[in-house]
Amino acid sequence: MNSLLGKRILLGVSGGIAAYKSADLVRKLRERGADARVVMTRSACEFITPLTMQAVSGKPVHVELLDYKAEGAMGHIDLARWADMILVAPASANFMSRVAQGQADDLLSTLCLAASVPVIMAPAMNQQMWLNPATQRNVALLKDYQVTLLGPGVGDQACGETGPGRMLEPLELIDALAKSFLSDRMSGLKVVVTAGPTREAIDPVRYISNRSSGRMGYAVARAASEAGGHVVLVSGPTAIDPPEHVRHCPVITAAEMHNSVMAEIDDAAIFIAAAAVADYRCNQAADKKIKKDNDELELLLKKTPDILAAVANRKLPPFTVGFAAETHSLSDYAQQKLINKKLDMVAANQVGENQGFDTKDNELEVFWSGGGVRLERAPKEKLARQLIHLIANRYHEKNTAQAH
Ligand SMILES: Cc1cc2nc3c(=O)[nH]c(=O)nc-3n(C[C@H](O)[C@H](O)[C@H](O)COP(=O)(O)O)c2cc1C
Repeated sequence: MNSLLGKRILLGVSGGIAAYKSADLVRKLRERGADARVVMTRSACEFITPLTMQAVSGKPVHVELLDYKAEGAMGHIDLARWADMILVAPASANFMSRVAQGQADDLLSTLCLAASVPVIMAPAMNQQMWLNPATQRNVALLKDYQVTLLGPGVGDQACGETGPGRMLEPLELIDALAKSFLSDRMSGLKVVVTAGPTREAIDPVRYISNRSSGRMGYAVARAASEAGGHVVLVSGPTAIDPPEHVRHCPVITAAEMHNSVMAEIDDAAIFIAAAAVADYRCNQAADKKIKKDNDELELLLKKTPDILAAVANRKLPPFTVGFAAETHSLSDYAQQKLINKKLDMVAANQVGENQGFDTKDNELEVFWSGGGVRLERAPKEKLARQLIHLIANRYHEKNTAQAH
């Protein structure tokens, strides 16, 4: 699985000889389908020009913390929110020291402190600098602060010495980065995900549907697959390609989605209902196109099957997660849904103009029995990974509790 596809990697470059390798790193990230943005320290600009990094990344390069223009567009907090991961390569001794001490005196160090995503550093320095107790103490502090260090490698150095301190090669860094997006939290588990809207025919050319793009459900399916799950994605009509390694079951109507889910649910460990299923369909769709002869037209609608309730009410239901899309009183409705439908978890999002449906970003309030958490506004792919993490945790907690 190419786990870097579509991932937003913020590449930090600090001032060291190995900065020349950062250009190749960006190129290779882009070849793997990642979206890379570059932030450089001022010293880094002495080793490789921002122009080079801009050319290889295809995006503006960020250097200054105090930048009036950037704060209106992609300011430091936006950059921290945007990223799925921060990789600092090369990480100079000085840069590591600054982050270890909690300094935020330039854009890159501020981003490392402001980030809620994993921060990875690839140290690169003279072997004496690396072995120096001060550096080693900073390394220990960084590890304490959950910063992951990749390398350094051992070998010949630019200064003519031999020893530990070489930055890992771009390909080694990329492989490690790709692995870090994979986990085994859902390893071996069958996960059924529904996504997208359904379409309910009015006549052969018209239908009732809704504004769901399927983006959130597809992102959830992908994140579950990256967590090791065997994912079946039952999807209404969308314009997006299904993620690789996910079994895609395309459907059109709520009834078809219901049948498809029921055919897959017996051996499923987790069911995530992210689809925006039509609540009503036409009682009798016309078999010919309806003519506009009358000023008024009445359609008699009938309730569609409640897929979520059907799954949650099974004798041995899987861990069942519902989505609630509401225009108002979000958390009240969501918590009612959790209880009324006997769900294990509900993820609620506010929908309305430019919110929730058909947008790139979203925010979620997630509830389960006895707890809840708010997932701040972020790209749907990032939210999906956070949600899958929560689901896996609750799933394992529930199973452990049931085993005792
Ligand atoms: C020619 C030259 C090469 C350097 N190479 C490295 C290096 O490989 N690793 C390192 O940690 N520092 C190296 N330094 C020192 C850093 O550039 C210096 O500590 C700088 O302040 C780092 O700034 P930054 O951490 O803000 O990027 C080098 C300095 C010079 C003049």
